[in-house]
Amino acid sequence: MIAKRCLNIKPSPIREVFNLANSNSINLGIGEPDFKTPEYIIEAAKRALDEGKTHYSPNNGIPELREAISEKLKKDYNIEVSCDNIMITCGASEGLMLAILSLVDRGDVAIVKEHTFVSYNSLINLAEGQVKAISLNEEFEFDVEELKEMIDKRTKLIIYNSPSNPTGKVYDKETVKAISEIAEDYNLIIISDEVYDKIVYEKKHYSPLQFTDRAILVNSFSKTYAMTGWRVGYLAVPEELNNELNLIDNFIKIHQYSFACATTFAQYGALEALKRDDFVNKMVKEFKRRRNLIYKGLKDIFNVYKPDGTFYIYPDVSEYGDSLEVAKKLIENNILCVPSIAFGNSNKYIRFSFATKYEDIEKAIEIIKELF
Ligand SMILES: Cc1ncc(COP(=O)(O)O)c(C=O)c1O
Repeated sequence: MIAKRCLNIKPSPIREVFNLANSNSINLGIGEPDFKTPEYIIEAAKRALDEGKTHYSPNNGIPELREAISEKLKKDYNIEVSCDNIMITCGASEGLMLAILSLVDRGDVAIVKEHTFVSYNSLINLAEGQVKAISLNEEFEFDVEELKEMIDKRTKLIIYNSPSNPTGKVYDKETVKAISEIAEDYNLIIISDEVYDKIVYEKKHYSPLQFTDRAILVNSFSKTYAMTGWRVGYLAVPEELNNELNLIDNFIKIHQYSFACATTFAQYGALEALKRDDFVNKMVKEFKRRRNLIYKGLKDIFNVYKPDGTFYIYPDVSEYGDSLEVAKKLIENNILCVPSIAFGNSNKYIRFSFATKYEDIEKAIEIIKELF
């Protein structure tokens, strides 16, 4: 009875692993900031509720928020996208879904990285497309020539994510430029998931939209402002690409019949969020302190890349068993983590999140040192 498209997608393996956890566990599996949404944002949403902003908003979101995002893209990255080419979504999750469902036909190919955020492959499967994964080296770099060789007439998309979940990798300007050129030369579209754009340490974040019009920006308020439960995100499409494909109108068709709009009063909170950078700066300073702690603790035990962004660290644990075995051992010893099979086909890595208290990370490192 259940439709094939649904049978084609599997529940996230992250859930299975977490079922083994108990109440004493130290949670290094978490995918969201452990900070509270800043008070000034909460106050703005409360004001919106008091003012009766409790009805549907326009399908594409409140104009003030789309305008503020357009200004912010210009100010932060010198990216020009008019507010008409921006739409508000229920988090980046919906943004990804709209972009993929609007572009992928049965049999179309999307190229993703070997270690990749859980949603991409499932959404491509839901659209009856095919995933091709590009391999990553120890530094999580990919070979641009290999990428070119993977492209054939069914290839439509590159799904790109930097700063990257689960690896913590931030790609440099040359790589971002190179994939932007590939999109132009091969007439592909990049779906650029930039939800961690503000969570970077030593490196600078670059967006493909700075180098090409053949990219769709997916972003959200979830990570930058600790607003995961608010479900507000956005899609931005360069004018030239939108003129060619009428993307925003097509996104809105699906959005209108499924979500209608993002929660109206939450959009007013998001509008307020964009007015200040002090919260994210403070949060990133603390994440950096924790990144240094966890990297120092893990580097003598595992082969591990020092993350330049996000709040994830992704050691190669293959010396001690496959990722599922190592994850089970850690979870049985009260450390929640995610094995790399959740992020693709690799069974060699573990993702630890450092979006958790400094003292808990210290305790976890002691346990890991004893176990391995
Ligand atoms: C790379 C990446 N993209 C998108 C999302 C989804 O974000 P949102 O809460 O905005 O739906 C996440 C959440 O973990 C993520 O890690």
